[in-house]
Amino acid sequence: MRRELCCLAPASPPRLQLQLRQGPVPEPRRGEVRLRVEASAVNPIDLKRAAGHGQRLLGLKGAGRFPLILGNDVAGRIEAVGPGVSAWAPDQRVFGLLPTGRRGGAHASQVVVPQQLLQAAPEAADAAALAVLPYSFTTVWLAVAATGLSPDRAAGRRVLVHGAAGGLGRLALPWLAGWGCQITAVCATGTTEACRALGAQQAVERGPGVLASLSDDFDVVLNFASWDDEPELAAHLGPQALGHATTVQPLLGHFDRLGWWRGALACRRDWRAMRAAVARRSPAARYAWTVFRPEPAALDALAAGLRTGRLGLPVGLAVPLDHAEQAFAHVAAGRLGRAVLLP
Ligand SMILES: NC(=O)c1ccc[n+]([C@@H]2O[C@H](COP(=O)([O-])OP(=O)(O)OC[C@H]3O[C@@H](n4cnc5c(N)ncnc54)[C@H](OP(=O)(O)O)[C@@H]3O)[C@@H](O)[C@H]2O)c1
Repeated sequence: MRRELCCLAPASPPRLQLQLRQGPVPEPRRGEVRLRVEASAVNPIDLKRAAGHGQRLLGLKGAGRFPLILGNDVAGRIEAVGPGVSAWAPDQRVFGLLPTGRRGGAHASQVVVPQQLLQAAPEAADAAALAVLPYSFTTVWLAVAATGLSPDRAAGRRVLVHGAAGGLGRLALPWLAGWGCQITAVCATGTTEACRALGAQQAVERGPGVLASLSDDFDVVLNFASWDDEPELAAHLGPQALGHATTVQPLLGHFDRLGWWRGALACRRDWRAMRAAVARRSPAARYAWTVFRPEPAALDALAAGLRTGRLGLPVGLAVPLDHAEQAFAHVAAGRLGRAVLLP
């Protein structure tokens, strides 16, 4: 039997309703691989989903109804491969992504993963350190791609990262610095030194008046922090800007709160208003709401980044599955470092 961490009903720490259950070991289907999980991460989205966030829209993928098995990131060892899998074999160490869907997430002792969403893991690599990366890096990759920024047009580009000391920011800074971007980081209190060490030229603590004090000719804006700041951030795009992407858009929340019809109208209204604000600053700039989806090319970029030794996230807490509430509480409290479950 496999052990799986079920989130029973919408709630937040300390009232989270988690239960460790036994379930059948999943069989890999065509193109899939079954892993014995060594580590899986608890990301901010898991906290939000545990509280019921995104139920309506994620329900379209079969991932909206409780009990939920959360988690998208995984590091582990291959136990079995399904038909049509040639790239992987039992006993290999890998890390990768589980799509959000009806078959549940990574918070379990064994999971099945599509073969194209895995990367080889060095034998000596720490499973927890690997498991905190795929979901966050993929989201960063999607946001950066949506702005139109790419390695061949990155040198000297001025990039503003809001939320730079969070998980997404700590991956974006070294990655884009490696491309030659000039990064300004807006970050949490006490993290300016860390952001500079990760590659930001300039780092300022977030707070009243800080955004207004920034220069207004950024080529790229990445908002990983707050939807409320979206208009003010867009106002800092320069006339030749490439684009602006946000991961903190109101998409899931609008549908949850307002239902299908009014939720769609609210999304269209907000997206159009921001698209127009961006176009007023820079007519050719792109504007995007980034929504996580598994992307093999992002995992290739992550594997390449790991080989440079530049990419990584601190692990703040690693606990067994039966102490999962501690990991969720760690994330809820915004403590430093990612939280990891070790089945
Ligand atoms: N759309 C998607 O598919 C997708 C995918 C991944 C992540 N996300 C979202 O993207 C955001 C960033 O993810 P993450 O993993 O980096 O989260 P994280 O590790 O929790 O970091 C968030 C960072 O943003 C800062 N922040 C939070 N609220 C802020 C505010 N009102 N003003 C300024 N800064 C603020 C935090 O600073 P403090 O520590 O000072 O609070 C923290 O440094 C999260 O909201 C996450 O849920 C969305």
